[in-house]
Amino acid sequence: MDTVVQRRVVQCRVVQCWEAYTPAEHATWNSLYLRMLPLWRQYATPPFLRGLDALQLNPDRIPRLADVNRCLRPLTGFRAQPVAGYLAAPDFFECLRRREFPTTVSIRDASTLDYLPEPDIFHDVAGHVPMHTDPVFADVLARFGECARRVGQTGDKDVAMQALSRFFWFTIEFGLMRSGDSLKAYGSGLLSSHGELEHALESDAVRLLPFDMDQVIAQPFEIDHYQPVLFYVDSFEHLFGLAERFECFLRNCPAPKLISR
Ligand SMILES: [Fe+2]
Repeated sequence: MDTVVQRRVVQCRVVQCWEAYTPAEHATWNSLYLRMLPLWRQYATPPFLRGLDALQLNPDRIPRLADVNRCLRPLTGFRAQPVAGYLAAPDFFECLRRREFPTTVSIRDASTLDYLPEPDIFHDVAGHVPMHTDPVFADVLARFGECARRVGQTGDKDVAMQALSRFFWFTIEFGLMRSGDSLKAYGSGLLSSHGELEHALESDAVRLLPFDMDQVIAQPFEIDHYQPVLFYVDSFEHLFGLAERFECFLRNCPAPKLISR
């Protein structure tokens, strides 16, 4: 592995100074949490709800990541690693390969609860981390890290990284999954956004499509408005099969048969 990436991954780490959070910042967490709770119960996939229970997040206080990790690590080996902010894609995916989830420790301003130009601790911990308690989902996430390593070995790294980013976007960030006769959200961009979660599953303006790898890696996305197209999988086993297929695509070898839908 690129030693420069390895060094950057270590350098991006910070310590979460929990005592430095202000009462106003804890109140922002509380507002966000209480606003999302009824929507999670209605629209989130069951593994997410089980993950929320397992992590024992306190609605009143920004979580200490050490406490989160005490619950999380025994379940899947993942841990929330505090970082100062945005990581470059190769560094981010290398963290996933190590089962370290880069976790922003700052929280958005109370005056802009709905505007999130970059991840904050609510998006990362309340939106992402409950999913990391699911063993199959955790394996998928680590597989993304393996895929990113393959990107570095491909002929056209830019095209391959764009494909990986779109695959990640339409699954880990904005993925939906079948649940009985309906669709539920497992993507963190949905599960941390009050407006977008309801819009995704109630609005006629959103096209909900079964996951198709060719379609997904050809589908651009924009971050500054609600997503007009979303894709759903049948299960996390299905998603894991897709990640395996994507890795084979990067290796330019025949893809394995996908798990049937
Ligand atoms: Fe995210």
